[in-house]
Amino acid sequence: MNVLVTGGCGYIGSHACVALHHAGHTPIVLDNYSNSHPSVVGRIEELNGTPLTVYQSDIRDSKALARVFAEQDIGAVMHFAGLKAVGESVAKPLEYYDNNVTGTLNLLAAMREAQVSKLIFSSSATVYGDPAVVPIDEHSQTGGTTNPYGTSKYMVERCLADFANANSDWSITLLRYFNPIGAHPSGRIGEDPSGIPNNLMPFITQVAIGRREALSIFGNDYPTEDGTGVRDYIHVEDLVDGHVAALEKRGDVAGLHVYNLGTGNGVSVLQMVNAMNGVLGRDLPVRMEARRAGDIAECFANPAKAEQELGWKAKYSLTDMVEHSWNWQQSNPNGYQS
Ligand code: NAD
Ligand code: UD1
Repeated sequence: MNVLVTGGCGYIGSHACVALHHAGHTPIVLDNYSNSHPSVVGRIEELNGTPLTVYQSDIRDSKALARVFAEQDIGAVMHFAGLKAVGESVAKPLEYYDNNVTGTLNLLAAMREAQVSKLIFSSSATVYGDPAVVPIDEHSQTGGTTNPYGTSKYMVERCLADFANANSDWSITLLRYFNPIGAHPSGRIGEDPSGIPNNLMPFITQVAIGRREALSIFGNDYPTEDGTGVRDYIHVEDLVDGHVAALEKRGDVAGLHVYNLGTGNGVSVLQMVNAMNGVLGRDLPVRMEARRAGDIAECFANPAKAEQELGWKAKYSLTDMVEHSWNWQQSNPNGYQS
């Protein structure tokens, strides 16, 4: 099947293009390169051993979307395009709602016009806000988001639920990611944040490669086993396999489908640092700092629903995730600019 991959040059979308190809599908990318580098295209082509069709366009551009749907026989859409930096979203809420909410509504309208009725949406565990209990299952309350990025994901989920309700022949799947890390085992594609990384793993690998002096650990007084924040880190390869499973198992089933994509294991910041120290064979420089505003103590998934209904389960270990992140960073010390 031809699958339109919006944001296909980004971190997760690029891995999805490889996973789709290996599952026998044809990815067709639409990306405006606002947070990616065009050289990723050659890397995906190299891994897939075949040319990749790419449209340099914006999901908010209706004419461009209509052209893509007219030129390509698209069977389904995986929608990764969007802005994702929490801090930036607080400073630029309009840009975030425009890209993430208006952009998605625009995409949906173009799909309806082209009669393409299968959509997989990149949602986030951020829609659960500060969870009352962990592990978090799909029935846990959503909303209570604390920043425009999180609220944009929550708003899109609500729009898609209403749309699915009104269009009973559509298949819409919301995938709520926990914390994607890792990279393709080849080290050819991976996460390449611009500027100072906000997230833990890219910061750790940049300290390890010498681009940053030390890792600041944001809080060691949380009510967790060692006092540092606990998250559910999932290998990006497992994450994109979850998308392929959702497409294949739910794409032909009408309705709104919702799945957590996580491992079910909570890992603290200190456990992550120790895992990286083990892979490096040396200790990373770290310093304890105050909690980061807006952070929660613990967040990890109950991934049972995805296992039961999609036949999907995360396979990679924490060591694999750390090794592959490090392999990517070492092979590309300055990301795609290397
Ligand atoms: P990314 O920034 O690496 O990739 C997003 C891609 O979308 C980029 O290539 C960017 O250029 C493109 N893009 C952005 N706005 C666009 C627009 N208006 N039109 C066309 N292209 C546009 O991010 P990612 O980590 O790959 O995340 C992909 C999706 O998954 C995002 O929607 C993100 O919110 C969601 N998500 C990510 C994480 C995470 O930790 N990485 C967690 C939960 C959810
Ligand atoms: C962040 C986002 C969240 C998003 C998720 C996945 C915030 C407030 N939240 O959450 O919306 O869905 O990423 O993309 O940004 N940490 C450090 N030092 C660092 C970086 C992080 O100690 O330099 C700690 C954090 O305090 C946290 C853990 O590492 O305990 C993970 O942080 P991060 O990778 O930013 O992910 P989330 O906090 O889950």
